[in-house]
Amino acid sequence: MKMTRRKFIETATMASLGAIMLNWPKKAKAEREDSYDSLPPLREITTKKGLLFGAAVGTPNLKNDRLFSDAVSRECNLIVPEYEAKWRTLMPEHLGAWHFEALDALYEYADNHMMKLRAVPLIWHEALPDWVKEKLEQGDGQKLMEEYILPLVSRYRGKIFSWDVVNEAIRPQDGLENGLRKSPWLKALGPDYIERAFRLAHEADPDLQLVYNDFRMEILEENARDILALVRHLKDKDTPLHAVGIQAHLDLKQTYAPLAHFCKEINKMGLDIIITELDVYEPSIDFDNERRDQLIADKTKEFLDIVFSVTRPKQIVTWGLSDRYSWLTDIKSKERKLAHWRARGLPLDYNYCRKPMWNVLYETVQKL
Ligand code: G3I
Repeated sequence: MKMTRRKFIETATMASLGAIMLNWPKKAKAEREDSYDSLPPLREITTKKGLLFGAAVGTPNLKNDRLFSDAVSRECNLIVPEYEAKWRTLMPEHLGAWHFEALDALYEYADNHMMKLRAVPLIWHEALPDWVKEKLEQGDGQKLMEEYILPLVSRYRGKIFSWDVVNEAIRPQDGLENGLRKSPWLKALGPDYIERAFRLAHEADPDLQLVYNDFRMEILEENARDILALVRHLKDKDTPLHAVGIQAHLDLKQTYAPLAHFCKEINKMGLDIIITELDVYEPSIDFDNERRDQLIADKTKEFLDIVFSVTRPKQIVTWGLSDRYSWLTDIKSKERKLAHWRARGLPLDYNYCRKPMWNVLYETVQKL
C-alpha cells in the first residue's frame, strides 16, 4: 500500500504519542491481522482433549471486574486461588480462627461456571502469619499441621479436587542435606514434615489429588536432581502422592536442559506432571508490545514443546489470565523501580484480548 505524505505524518504522530502512553490500548480486534478471536475458548479445546486449562485468580478482581470474570469463565475450566487458600488469608489471627469467606466465594464462582477448583498450598514457608512462625519455634509443629490440614481439607472435600500439599521444599542453594530449603517447617519437624503433610491431607480426603509443587527444576540440574530424590524418597515410603507441579515462571534468558529428563523420571515413578503457575517475564520497557508478545509466545512454545514431547500434563494453569492482573507487574516493577512498567506474560492482554501466547497454548493442546 503506497503511503501518502499525509498518512506518513499521521502514522509518525501516532507512533510518538503511543510511546508515551503506558498501555496503548491494543489495536481493535477487527484491525488485528493475527486475530485469534474466531477460535474456540481454551476451556473448550482442553475439555475435548480431557485436560484442564486454568488460571490463578483473586476474588477482588473476579468480583469487581466483569470483563475479567467473563474472560475467566470463557477461557478456563479450572481456577486456582492466588492467595485465598494460603495460611495468612485462611487463619491470620490464631489457631482455629478460620476465614473461609474468600475461598468459599471462589468455590461458588467455580461451581456456578462448571469449573474445577484446585488450591495452593497447604504447607509453604511463605504466607505464614507471625503467630504460626512463633508456634513453630515453640515446638508445636505437629499440632499446628494437624489442626490446619485436617479441618481445611475435610471442609472442601468434593469441592477442591487437588491441593499443592507442600510447595517449594527444595532449595539446594541453601546448602542443607538433600537440598532441602531452610524452612520453619523443616526446623520445627525435621525432613519428614513433608511426608506428614501428605499423609494428613490424604487422611482428610482420600479422593484428593495430592501434588508436590516446586520451581527451577526446569532450569537447574541441582534442583531437578534434589526434587527427584525427594519424590523418590516419598514414593519409597509409600507416601500418598499423585503429581508433581512445575510452576513454570519462565523468563527469556532461560534454557531447559533438565526438563525432559525430569518429566520422564517423574512419570517413571507413576506420577503425573502438571503445570501450575505458567507465566513469562520479559523485562523490556519499550512499548513495542507486538515484539514483546512474540518473544513471550516463543518462550512459552519452547517450554511446552519440551514438556509435551515427553509427557501429557492434564492441567495447565497460568499464574493469572490477563496482564491487567499479574504478580509480575507488582513484583518486578517494584524490584526494578519502574513504576510504569507492565508485564505481558499472560495469555490475554491488558484489555482481555488474546495474544500470541494464547495461541501457543491453543495450538499445543489442539495438536494432542
Ligand atoms: O489482600 C491483602 C490486602 O488486604 C492488603 O492491603 C495488602 C497489603 O500488603 O496485602 C494483600 O495481600 C497480598 C496478596 O498477595 C493479595 O494481593 C499479600 O500481601 C501478598 O503477599 C500476596 O502475594 C502473593 C504471594 O504469592 C504470596 O502469597 C501473590 O499475589 C501471588 O502471586 C504469589 O504467588 C506465588 C505462589 O503462591 C507460589 N509460587 C510463586 C508465586 C509468585 O510469588
